[in-house]
Amino acid sequence: MSFNVSLNSYFNRINVVLTDYLSKLPLKRTPLVQAMEYSVLLGGKRLRPLLVYATGNMLHVKDVSLDAPAAAIECMHAYSLIHDDLPAIDNDVLRRDQATCHYKFGEDIAILAGDALQTLSFSILINSKIPGVVLENRISMLSELAHASGVTGMCGGQILDLISEGQQISIDNLERIHQHKTGALIRSAVRLGALTAGDIGVDLIPDLDKFSNAIGLAFQVKDDILDVTKDNNSLPQRTRPGSRWRKSTYPELIGLDNSRAKIKDLYNKSLSILEILSKQKYNTTMLQALASFIITRDQ
Ligand code: IPE
Ligand code: IPE
Ligand code: MG
Ligand code: MG
Repeated sequence: MSFNVSLNSYFNRINVVLTDYLSKLPLKRTPLVQAMEYSVLLGGKRLRPLLVYATGNMLHVKDVSLDAPAAAIECMHAYSLIHDDLPAIDNDVLRRDQATCHYKFGEDIAILAGDALQTLSFSILINSKIPGVVLENRISMLSELAHASGVTGMCGGQILDLISEGQQISIDNLERIHQHKTGALIRSAVRLGALTAGDIGVDLIPDLDKFSNAIGLAFQVKDDILDVTKDNNSLPQRTRPGSRWRKSTYPELIGLDNSRAKIKDLYNKSLSILEILSKQKYNTTMLQALASFIITRDQ
């Protein structure tokens, strides 16, 4: 992965933090915990944890106070991927160029691994030391994570995605699906970083949300483009009738060139928000690097 120097060090940091949390789980030799380790530790761009670190760092929060929210959001993301790949949902056999969790461990174990990762993410946020964060803000962080993951966020997006299968939907509806199923956790990562900074961070949330909404949508449009442009041999094989291939995507609705133009617009929008923050003397270098990464990524 080609990140800038600071992002690389945070990429390594979150991997150590996640390994540490998983190593403390009981029942280590059971397929449940092995499936959780497999789904969290083997690969992943760690975009959401990096957004937590980048936002917190901009607000002068110590790294040690960002580890728990960064790990919590990645566990939530890992759970969402395991369940998204299940035969009853997208029926994918490959994730991160490896067998999906249910393909490797069986559907029963994959369902449990997803369940346990979801609750682990809350346990991490409840039980970890987060120096400098008062109880009220910790509760706000828990509320934020729950809001972003449930019906009001990711799960809501997943159901809108499922019920739109096989239908020609409007661009506004597609944007709504994307803002929920993918955008909600991305926005939440930035909000969690901001909430660790207390009142200063809370005051910036409206501006930060505009930034996150732009990069969150850009991320999913890019995902749609990569699905149609990358080498077909490396694509997941989807066998479920009416699965993603029958779903509306940006390239399908507005064409590849317009989709690329849309990403560029969203990128420029995200940079204009960061400029406002820079003028308030915030160092937005890492957030800028993440926004660039989202539009230039090839995986
Ligand atoms: C993939 O997310 C699923 C979507 C939300 C589109 P990522 O592309 O962030 O997945 P990993 O964690 O890097 O594999
Ligand atoms: C995954 O979206 C979104 C979540 C897991 C919430 P998709 O189903 O569109 O993405 P891929 O192609 O499986 O990564
Ligand atoms: Mg899906
Ligand atoms: Mg999927």
